[in-house]
Amino acid sequence: MRDIERFFREAVYYFPRLAGQHSQYVLKQLGSLQSDMRSVAVMHGVAQSLRLEQMRAVAAYVESLD
Ligand code: HEM
Repeated sequence: MRDIERFFREAVYYFPRLAGQHSQYVLKQLGSLQSDMRSVAVMHGVAQSLRLEQMRAVAAYVESLD
């Protein structure tokens, strides 16, 4: 199997599905990822520049997806 095919096949195990996830849950995870309480380098990068209001907006958007 080509590497790119393997990547897409296995991505589902590494990237959590967020669509429709409760906004309070997403907000809590973003807070942990921002503070390094939950240490995931790439997500720290995503979360670090967000202010609380922006995190709330992202969390509400994620919950609205299906
Ligand atoms: C709009 C951009 C993004 C948002 C709102 C977001 C949000 C989140 C949230 C809420 C979680 C925790 C989910 C859970 O534990 O149930 C998470 C985890 C994760 N995110 Fe992101 N993310 C974003 C972009 C990215 C990008 C660009 C990458 C990588 C290229 C990434 C990779 C990951 C990975 C690998 C995890 C799982 C971490 C672990 O294993 O503990 N995310 N993300």
